[in-house]
Amino acid sequence: MEAIVYEEFGGPEVLRHTTGVAVPEPGPGEVRVRVKAVGVNPVDWKRRYGWVEEFYPTTFPAVPGLEFAGTVDALGEGVEGAEGSGDGFPGLAVGDEVIGWTKTGAYAEYAIAGIIAPKPAELSWEAAASLPVAGETAQRVLDLIGVREGETLFLHGAAGVVGSVAVQLAVAAGITVVGSASESNHAYLRELGAIPVAYGEGLAERVRAAAPDGVHAVFDAAGHGVLPVAIELLGGEGAADKRRIATIAATDAAEHGIAFSGVTAAPDVVRAGLTAQARQAVEGTLTVRIADTLPLKEAARAQELSESGHMRGKLVLLP
Ligand SMILES: NC(=O)c1ccc[n+]([C@@H]2O[C@H](COP(=O)([O-])OP(=O)(O)OC[C@H]3O[C@@H](n4cnc5c(N)ncnc54)[C@H](OP(=O)(O)O)[C@@H]3O)[C@@H](O)[C@H]2O)c1
Repeated sequence: MEAIVYEEFGGPEVLRHTTGVAVPEPGPGEVRVRVKAVGVNPVDWKRRYGWVEEFYPTTFPAVPGLEFAGTVDALGEGVEGAEGSGDGFPGLAVGDEVIGWTKTGAYAEYAIAGIIAPKPAELSWEAAASLPVAGETAQRVLDLIGVREGETLFLHGAAGVVGSVAVQLAVAAGITVVGSASESNHAYLRELGAIPVAYGEGLAERVRAAAPDGVHAVFDAAGHGVLPVAIELLGGEGAADKRRIATIAATDAAEHGIAFSGVTAAPDVVRAGLTAQARQAVEGTLTVRIADTLPLKEAARAQELSESGHMRGKLVLLP
């Protein structure tokens, strides 16, 4: 089958496009999918560099890619109709359109599914493949910092894929969002219902000016050294309730006594969340911007673009 593989850590040049990879066989309780679209995530190139082995240990040869949209292609022993079996594939049949995570790597024609949810027929393959990681991460972190209706959230990196999904979920929940982004993304953030501020020198002052009554919680979806600012916004070292700050990108989180959220929630919770978000995407109340769609063989270029850090939305690969 067609796939992207790498056999050592390194830059984009270690990625090899091939048609010679064996189609993975679903074991007992597993489901194989025919991948139709793949969402590119920053973690794909972080893994390729060998930076996130603690969370995602690599076995070579490796196929990159966490999230996909596709069709159910083959069911392993004992899967049919099994409610809550293992990772849980209730009532699945070959040919069903699904979205979710893979265990074997999504940059491939076929993959073994991890957690999956039904893909609404109205949702394009590209839009569907863009949802799992951003939707799960955004909801997980909003839950972790316990931000509620009537409160004000500072969201760093609000125009990124995860950030923009978090803005939409928070605004829909009645939360006021002050979001940092490049100037070119400020109109987009206003459209989503957030108050935009520029990141960089003077960030804390700009957030205070945008939220004169203060912020209750901080979601760091970008990294780049923002945690001291987050602590300052919540009252400073010694006074800030650090349980109300979380990061998904700052590797120095522990040094600041702040939670790095990197672990996916329980499969049933994740599947229920993704199913609900897919419906919201169809209704138009939750949208992931798509920056570009590229053929799978251009995976190295897609990862380079992702690493540039300022894509306007999700990059999607088509096997
Ligand atoms: N731990 C987890 O569970 C988890 C899950 C998903 C993602 N992540 C991580 O979260 C981060 C965002 O992922 P994503 O998919 O949303 O990526 P993305 O769409 O590429 O977004 C990157 C964001 O970084 C911002 N940015 C770039 N340079 C910056 C700077 N110097 N200062 C402040 N912000 C800057 C960008 O803002 P502008 O475009 O406005 O400049 C953009 O909002 C990545 O580090 C990714 O690895 C972690």
